[in-house]
Amino acid sequence: MDTTELTLRPVRPADRERTLEITKDVWEGRDYVPRVFDRWVSDAGAEFQAAEIEGVVVGLQRLRPYAPGLIWYEGLRVAGESRRRGIARAMLQAAIAEAHEQGFHEMRLATRDVPAIRLFESAGFKAVVEMKWWRGLRVEGGEPARIPEPGEARKLWPALQSSPGVELYAGIVPDMNGARDLSAEELERLAAGGLIRVGPGGRAIALLREPWGQNVAVSLLAGRGGALRELLMALRFEADADGLNHVTVNLPPGHPAEEDLRASGYDFADAEHSAFVYALKLD
Ligand SMILES: CC(C)(COP(=O)(O)OP(=O)(O)OC[C@H]1O[C@@H](n2cnc3c(N)ncnc32)[C@H](O)[C@@H]1OP(=O)(O)O)[C@@H](O)C(=O)NCCC(=O)NCCS
Repeated sequence: MDTTELTLRPVRPADRERTLEITKDVWEGRDYVPRVFDRWVSDAGAEFQAAEIEGVVVGLQRLRPYAPGLIWYEGLRVAGESRRRGIARAMLQAAIAEAHEQGFHEMRLATRDVPAIRLFESAGFKAVVEMKWWRGLRVEGGEPARIPEPGEARKLWPALQSSPGVELYAGIVPDMNGARDLSAEELERLAAGGLIRVGPGGRAIALLREPWGQNVAVSLLAGRGGALRELLMALRFEADADGLNHVTVNLPPGHPAEEDLRASGYDFADAEHSAFVYALKLD
């Protein structure tokens, strides 16, 4: 196929049905794109694009500015019958060119799929953080962890920076909804959104993200030993108190907190697969 016939245009509400068709077989029917379709279509702060060939939508992608200089790439989908013809590659190249033209200095994304990984690596993206998924079920009866104020959160920065295993995060918060740089300002921002939990004496820290399901979702852990174990239990209590099913934690493999997760009743949700945050420098 000649991908020069490919045109990109904004996704419209009328593309809903075609989107459902394209995503129906993705991840055994558990694709999140149908769930976010209405929000994405009406979000003027991002570009949700449809790729068309001869008037038929064959692909989708979204570009979302989410922090100064950073643009998040998500929702790449190519219709089953149109795959392996270079459509995704052409769409990604167009997205990169656009992000570059708009002056973003880095494009980031998260993925766990081998075809996508091959595509992104061949387009020059580098894996920044690898993550394994852990899960701890809700537990009744205990106290949820403390939620620090923004000013206090900022003061956690030195402890976080010197926490064992922090280097595995490579200077970013691996939030699968948009990985920002890890900094004191970021701690303050997360705290303003109620997304930090601290263990006893501030000796353990969990950075939370917006969950995708009925759970508490942790994107970064700091600290170790008794304080961290207490915090990990407190998160399980919090899930219970909030009527949620479990806590998910994404953690780089080999991180010292693995031991504390096991000791606190967590296990791999998926031991085989890793998810990755990828990044492409644009300048
Ligand atoms: C991933 C996806 C978007 C690729 O779309 P596509 O149009 O078939 O991809 P392309 O034809 O442009 O292929 C580009 C490169 O991706 C890689 N790739 C694509 N499909 C692959 C597969 N099934 N196995 C291994 N590599 C694959 C290859 O490196 C390929 O280059 P090559 O053809 O020169 O070997 C498509 O398979 C899809 O929609 N999958 C389901 C949703 C998904 O996983 N999205 C990505 C989430 S981040």
